[in-house]
Amino acid sequence: MPLTHTTESIDIHDLPPIEVIFGRSPSMAAAREKLERVAETTVPVLLQGESGTGKEIFARLLHAKSNRSKGAWVKVACPAIPHTLIESELFGYEKGAFSWAYATKRGRVEQAHMGTLFLDEIGDLDLSVQAKLLQMLQDGSFMRVGGLESRTVNTRLVSAASKGLQQQVENGSFRLDFLYRINAVTIDLPPLRQRTEDLPMLIDYFLELHSKTFRYNPKPLSREVTRLMQRYGWPGNIRQLENMLRGYVLIGSEEFLSADLVASFPASLTRLNTEIDLSNPISLKEVTKASTQDLERQIILMVLEANGWSRRKTAKWLNISYRSLLYKLQSSKAAEFSESPLMNGIQDSMANLTQAMGPPKEVGLAGISPESVNLKGFSYIQPRTA
Ligand SMILES: Nc1ncnc2c1ncn2[C@@H]1O[C@H](COP(=O)(O)OP(=O)(O)O)[C@@H](O)[C@H]1O
Ligand SMILES: [Mg+2]
Repeated sequence: MPLTHTTESIDIHDLPPIEVIFGRSPSMAAAREKLERVAETTVPVLLQGESGTGKEIFARLLHAKSNRSKGAWVKVACPAIPHTLIESELFGYEKGAFSWAYATKRGRVEQAHMGTLFLDEIGDLDLSVQAKLLQMLQDGSFMRVGGLESRTVNTRLVSAASKGLQQQVENGSFRLDFLYRINAVTIDLPPLRQRTEDLPMLIDYFLELHSKTFRYNPKPLSREVTRLMQRYGWPGNIRQLENMLRGYVLIGSEEFLSADLVASFPASLTRLNTEIDLSNPISLKEVTKASTQDLERQIILMVLEANGWSRRKTAKWLNISYRSLLYKLQSSKAAEFSESPLMNGIQDSMANLTQAMGPPKEVGLAGISPESVNLKGFSYIQPRTA
């Protein structure tokens, strides 16, 4: 019954190059130092970090650098195995232990003898399995399901968690004594948004990797897209970056990338920035409108900056007309805009545009002035369709 696990020997050359794995950020330097200190020992290591931050890469590296590198590497993805099967999957079973146990089967723990056992998302394990693993960590002993005799095994445990185990201890779903056993050393992997200095190198690495896989060389990414990437929140971390770049190599269009980057904004952008005066009753409609427009202003600023303040590119990316963008910008009283290089040319552009297009009524703006929609940062005008 094959479940999601692997038994293989790991060659360090199958991993990304060391300089790509660690990059240059200080947080990764700290993780590297810890990894190198413990790699050759047998102490259990807990890898913590959001999904896609490279926990599995680190676990493989730990194994490859250990003196067990010739032994088995056994990975168990805990959430992928039904709770009713996990015990027999890990510890094996004796013939006759269940109605379908026609033969004795060794578990993953035994397969990892003299090697490394990697338990991914260890927080998913039931308390009873945690207790059995705790015993194994204490003296190497365990019993197969349905077995009568105790067996011993020598394995190095590396575990990974993307959610806080401490919190699980508090809510009773994780044993404190087990946590103390598995986290003899904890390595925290930073999210990608906290190591943006490493983005250019990771981008180059994935572009080259997938260009080789698909035998297609896309154009290097433009500075604008790279800047957008620097400001993006990367909820899926390096996995998301890799998927995006794989898509870029396959599709070959940057517009596909920028659409992704612009469509999903970092959480900080969706914060409510509109000031609310609580001394007087307020209109929900007005406040909501102001907030939406504030958000719109932030989005425009972000895309403008990423596009080197090119209004034409910004309008294209935001799928609005150039003219509509100029109106939005001209109406804005935001300090950010007036300090930006953008403002230097904006008045001229507006003058030229107005001259070229004639009086406002011809373009369906009669009766609406920027002042008529009076908002904090950004007054904006919806051009009417005549
Ligand atoms: N530091 C890194 N350098 C290069 N590629 C990485 C790095 N970290 C992760 N990756 C790649 O990103 C993807 C997700 O990494 P993984 O180790 O599975 O993350 P996690 O286990 O934390 O979810 C994999 O394809 C992996 O090869
Ligand atoms: Mg993983």
